[in-house]
Amino acid sequence: MLSCKIQCFTILNIVIIVMARNNSKNYTFPKDFIFGAATSAYQIEGAWNVDGKGQSIWDTFTHTHPDRISDGSNGDDAAKSYFKYKEDVRALKEMGMQFYRFSISWSRIMPQGLPNNINQKGIDYYNRLIDEVINNGLKPVVTMFHWDLPQYLQDLGGFASDVIIIYFEAYAEVLFENFGDRVHMWTTINEPYNHAFGYEVMTLAPGLNTTGVGIYLAAHNMIKAHARVYHLYDKHYRAKQKGKISLNLSVQWSVPEHKNSTDDKEATKAELEFTLGWYAHPIYSKEGDYPQIMKDRIRNLSLAEGFPTSRLPSFTSEEIVYVKGTADYFALNQYGSYLIAKGDTGANPSYFRDKGTLIEPDNWPKSETSTWESVTPKGIRNIIKWIKEQYGEELEILITENGFADNGELNDIIRINYLATYMIEVLKAIHFDKCKVIGYTVWSLIDNLEWSNGYSSKFGLYHVDFNDPDRKRTPKQSAHFMRNVTETRQIPYNYGIIDRELDEEEGL
Ligand SMILES: *[C@@H]1O[C@H](CO)[C@@H](O)[C@H](O)[C@H]1NC(C)=O
Ligand SMILES: *[C@@H]1O[C@H](CO)[C@@H](O)[C@H](O)[C@H]1NC(C)=O
Ligand SMILES: *[C@@H]1O[C@H](CO)[C@@H](O)[C@H](O)[C@H]1NC(C)=O
Ligand SMILES: *[C@@H]1O[C@H](CO)[C@@H](O)[C@H](O)[C@H]1NC(C)=O
Ligand SMILES: *[C@@H]1O[C@H](CO)[C@@H](O)[C@H](O)[C@H]1NC(C)=O
Ligand SMILES: *[C@@H]1O[C@H](CO)[C@@H](O)[C@H](O)[C@H]1NC(C)=O
Ligand SMILES: *[C@@H]1O[C@H](CO)[C@@H](O)[C@H](O)[C@H]1NC(C)=O
Repeated sequence: MLSCKIQCFTILNIVIIVMARNNSKNYTFPKDFIFGAATSAYQIEGAWNVDGKGQSIWDTFTHTHPDRISDGSNGDDAAKSYFKYKEDVRALKEMGMQFYRFSISWSRIMPQGLPNNINQKGIDYYNRLIDEVINNGLKPVVTMFHWDLPQYLQDLGGFASDVIIIYFEAYAEVLFENFGDRVHMWTTINEPYNHAFGYEVMTLAPGLNTTGVGIYLAAHNMIKAHARVYHLYDKHYRAKQKGKISLNLSVQWSVPEHKNSTDDKEATKAELEFTLGWYAHPIYSKEGDYPQIMKDRIRNLSLAEGFPTSRLPSFTSEEIVYVKGTADYFALNQYGSYLIAKGDTGANPSYFRDKGTLIEPDNWPKSETSTWESVTPKGIRNIIKWIKEQYGEELEILITENGFADNGELNDIIRINYLATYMIEVLKAIHFDKCKVIGYTVWSLIDNLEWSNGYSSKFGLYHVDFNDPDRKRTPKQSAHFMRNVTETRQIPYNYGIIDRELDEEEGL
């Protein structure tokens, strides 16, 4: 949140003063490139205890710890999309989008998360939503798990326990059986990295203080649960349902603080392996398993701390093979960048100490209402290139989240600039770097509950009036902008775009 006001004001000035160069402006998005917008169940649905829905860990967390949500709010009502989903779908259609990415609330269709108790009203709701999406000419892209674990399963240990794997598979089976005839793009888990953080920090559910231990167990079981669902689909559903499966991985691009420092350059590599590689290497690399640097560092530190073995669980050789290749494309969530130096920080033990990296203060423009978002468009092109270099040229990449948080202004020129400059970098990745980027998803379709930032951090292309019992939706300027993008398949010429030279000066 450093000197945000000044930074954002600077962006505005640049918008007015500097017109973009032509470079990639006239490059178009390929014919089969798809655009969409995303939401997640807990962040928009509301109806937290309606029609037989069970309690999720985010219900528990926000009810017992309003102090950990910046405005003390919760998702009890949220944007009331459970009742107003038709308007959400209409918004996507108005913007000319091709798909709607939403998530299913596990506890809405299985109140305890168990397969012996299925809530038909929950199934009915998602059937109505999926049909509405399809009847409007859009494709549903469905996330199975976007952090709102049924509380019952958390009581059994949540993702820190491998008990979760069989129940996740049983849940996925219910989804394939009920929705797989119409859903052809699945995401098993959204941002396992961030969900695992609920076992490291207090600000995300379940909010457990098990630093350096719980986080790796949760990650390990999420990767195994994902692989299990991929194989289930392969075995029983793929032939007739013909869909694709992935998991969404998020990453901040990382830049060495001192360009000439070997330490900082190595720390930067470690940072990327400890964030993206942690999940991507077991699934997308040729050799599988966790990145070597994670295995080495965590083992060394664990032994020194008095643990008999590494705190990072290990895969058996069968598991390495079982997990490898269990994604049909790379689903990338990307927002900002970090400036990285070598150094020790965090509790002992902790994930942060294991990384051996420091996130240093930078002077990139920041979102005024998000604690972690910087405006660094080149990062998205760099990370796309990094993925291609690490995991192969043939891998298709779908940008599954990108977007900007502000205070909810309707004339959201900063968001338009953010989206435009990032999409220009995506165009460069496609046309200059020959990367296979197949689509782009804006986070988010509508303003919503932004986890621990509550309702104060607004990402929506559509404004939601949270003081209105009817939660009126209104398109922002960025919604019109996206309409123009999907129509022309270019970044419209009539927008002043932040000059990319700026990034160069700032060290990106
Ligand atoms: C943009 O491209 C046009 C046509 O090639 C050229 O005339 C114009 O000078 C360029 N503008 C900038 C800012 O580079
Ligand atoms: C790019 O597109 C704009 C608007 O359509 C047009 O005026 C300009 O000449 C184009 N530039 C190039 C280099 O094609
Ligand atoms: C987490 O636990 C450690 C000791 O295990 C303690 O020192 C630390 O203060 C706790 N952190 C929080 C945020 O409760
Ligand atoms: C970094 O190294 C390059 C090449 O070795 C050198 O030209 C440059 O001056 C160095 N920059 C800094 C800031 O030390
Ligand atoms: C781990 O410890 C071994 C043995 O002491 C050492 O050779 C190696 O460099 C260490 N690796 C890391 C990444 O710390
Ligand atoms: C997850 O990936 C899907 C594609 O599988 C994408 O459309 C969606 O936006 C992603 N979800 C999130 C929360 O990023
Ligand atoms: C979208 O394009 C139309 C026609 O090209 C233009 O008149 C309009 O200003 C654009 N929308 C916005 C929000 O700029």
